[in-house]
Amino acid sequence: MPSHEPAMHDAIAHLPKVELHVHIEGTLEPELMFALAERNGVELPYASVDEVRQAYAFHNLQSFLDIYYAGARVLQTEEDFHDLAAAYLRRCHADRVRHTEIFFDPQTHTARGIPFDTVVRGLTRALADAEHELGITSQLILCFLRDQSAEAAMATLEQALLWRAHIHAVGLDSAEAGHPPEKFRTVFERARAEGFASVAHAGEEGPPEYIRQALDLLSVARIDHGVQAEQDPGLMQRLASERIPLTVCPLSNVRLCVFDRLEDHNLKRLLDADLCVSIHSDDPAYFGGYIGENYRATTDALGLSLDDLERLARNAVEGAFLDPPARQRLEEEIAQWRAAHSPGPHAD
Ligand code: HPA
Ligand code: ZN
Repeated sequence: MPSHEPAMHDAIAHLPKVELHVHIEGTLEPELMFALAERNGVELPYASVDEVRQAYAFHNLQSFLDIYYAGARVLQTEEDFHDLAAAYLRRCHADRVRHTEIFFDPQTHTARGIPFDTVVRGLTRALADAEHELGITSQLILCFLRDQSAEAAMATLEQALLWRAHIHAVGLDSAEAGHPPEKFRTVFERARAEGFASVAHAGEEGPPEYIRQALDLLSVARIDHGVQAEQDPGLMQRLASERIPLTVCPLSNVRLCVFDRLEDHNLKRLLDADLCVSIHSDDPAYFGGYIGENYRATTDALGLSLDDLERLARNAVEGAFLDPPARQRLEEEIAQWRAAHSPGPHAD
């Protein structure tokens, strides 16, 4: 069945999804950016929502980060963080996301004088509401900004200790080049000792060596992006045999020029090499789509099959921080989805 057929998009719409790579600040839609700017009396360098969208033309990670950090200035109160996360979770519901593990960047806010507690209170309230009202479970992952110092990361970790019950893991994001995982070895050791799980962005723009460091020096449970692993056959073998999850974000990779076109993306090659890859959205308000759109566009561009979609969805469940009963429930939901969407006897 050609993948652009409506039946394939229908199957994607119904697929139970697990989101493992989304930055909550990257879900700030221009409309909400304007509303919060007005609510908080913040001046924006844009005259309209259209002008904001026109500014979203990026040529690499740094050109995006400059605009992303500027947009985050409108987030000031607990209510703002709540409204941001509540809007994101409504999008999740529309995309049939069953579980989401959400990055947040406290340093982006504490550096502007916004208390750590304000951020986490607003986010956790929205997450609790979504679990009750929409049946979506979630975890928070605190990301350290890797272009800031290890000392600043350690101070952020200390602020997180009071919120240990609400923050599942730590991660590493922001400008990758020149900021290797080894810079944060001591911070991740401390985080592990305090009971946090860990992940790290590696091999988005940076070399395969950063993926190796994240695994060997930071002991991360999964790699965010990781697409540069393909340059290193030995690393590819290791990722496959150790079942290291790679949280891949195809639309992000194209918008940040990691790949020229979605048709050139290596996701299908990584999947065929038996890596535990899955599809996610990164900064959907900036990159042209949430998880459902990432699945649809990638399926169309790479000709993914129902088998591929099932493997991708199962890989995301495998990579998630879920307890065994929750993991089993999601696996059963995916099996039911597959039974409902298998080509029937009349399919050619
Ligand atoms: N890469 C690194 N850091 C980030 C990103 C990303 O795509 N989005 C938000 N912070
Ligand atoms: Zn990311």
